[in-house]
Amino acid sequence: MARKENKYKDYGIATQAIHTGTDYDEGTGAVRRPLHMANSYKLPDDLSQVNYSSTDLLMYSRNGNPNQHWLEEKVAALHEADDAIVLASGVAALHALFWTLLKTGDKVVYPKVSYMAVYRMFHELFNNKFGVDTVMVDMTNLEEVRKAITPGTRLVHIETPDNPTNGVSDIDAIVKIAHENGAVVSVDNTFASPYNQKPLEYGADFVVESLTKFVNGHGDAQGGAIISNDLETMDRIRYEAQVNVGSVISPFNAWQIFRGSVTYPLRMQRINETSQKLAEWLEKRENVTFVAYPGLPSNQGYALAKRQMNNGCGGVISFGINADDKAVERFCAALKVVTFAVSLGHDESLIFPQPSYDERINLYPEKFRKGFIRFSVGLEESEDIIADLDQALRRIGL
Ligand SMILES: Cc1ncc(COP(=O)(O)O)c(C=O)c1O
Repeated sequence: MARKENKYKDYGIATQAIHTGTDYDEGTGAVRRPLHMANSYKLPDDLSQVNYSSTDLLMYSRNGNPNQHWLEEKVAALHEADDAIVLASGVAALHALFWTLLKTGDKVVYPKVSYMAVYRMFHELFNNKFGVDTVMVDMTNLEEVRKAITPGTRLVHIETPDNPTNGVSDIDAIVKIAHENGAVVSVDNTFASPYNQKPLEYGADFVVESLTKFVNGHGDAQGGAIISNDLETMDRIRYEAQVNVGSVISPFNAWQIFRGSVTYPLRMQRINETSQKLAEWLEKRENVTFVAYPGLPSNQGYALAKRQMNNGCGGVISFGINADDKAVERFCAALKVVTFAVSLGHDESLIFPQPSYDERINLYPEKFRKGFIRFSVGLEESEDIIADLDQALRRIGL
């Protein structure tokens, strides 16, 4: 697949978010490129050179579409990377990477705390269906990681900060251990997003991100990306997972995410600031039992986050309240500014309880097993969010 040169690569991230992948529409001179809602393209007169499993020729939208390609330029730029593949969702991107890299008999080391679909893929699916040896570790504990990675390990998958406990793992140190043993490293960067953390800088081989979250930022589209400088493997992912398994993004979703991404650095800067303020407020509020946010000095990952997360600690705060599952639900339902819904990284703040009957609750550190809530900070005024949290806590007697 031919890659476009990023003409804006010497500029800052906010400038690149506006200009990379953006151009005049050639047909009309419009300052925005159009949405191409076509699933098929005119073929060349001579078909002898056409490869129907290639992504180079615009031919059929599963092989690639212009809106996908423009968003790929943007996402690669946000990570200062040579290439990005944009697919239908974050999970489609995770699957595409694992599907392409792994075969029967390979060993994967993956985190005890991760996004649910990663747990499903490695705890249930890739091991039972395809005979992949999957080993779960506490990725925040380097000694445990060192013991688990052996010369037969093909892939080490990291998620930092992790969903939902905000645990921070040391990308640089894990990459060194993995590479010494001949394994490659992928990092799920969804919680941090590229404004705050670029895992390729620390030697990771692949980054996976849900674009549904901060990069789109408006709660109205789904997409995911794989980002890497390993162009040969990226071409294999396009061939094996995009064209022949079918996880391509629709032009409409790509267009929407592209539009959202223009203001992404600005939004992220504000979300970082508000999150820090709210985490500090929550830590002081009575009846809040713990606050897990890497920007707090009381946190496991504070020192590491200072080194690894360059611009801020992101927009997700995990915290506990002194309440049982039912009371936690009543607290979430009593909020007026914050929306009671799954997902994260939207313009609006979102809150979602993590109940004690969650099948993975015993994999989380002890304090997360009661009254645990995941809170995604939005763009509202911090004073309004604080007042809302406070009134909802009072509504349930806390
Ligand atoms: C850390 C992480 N990775 C991956 C995903 C999956 O992304 P998507 O919902 O776009 O498939 C999510 C979704 O919440 C996530 O939080």
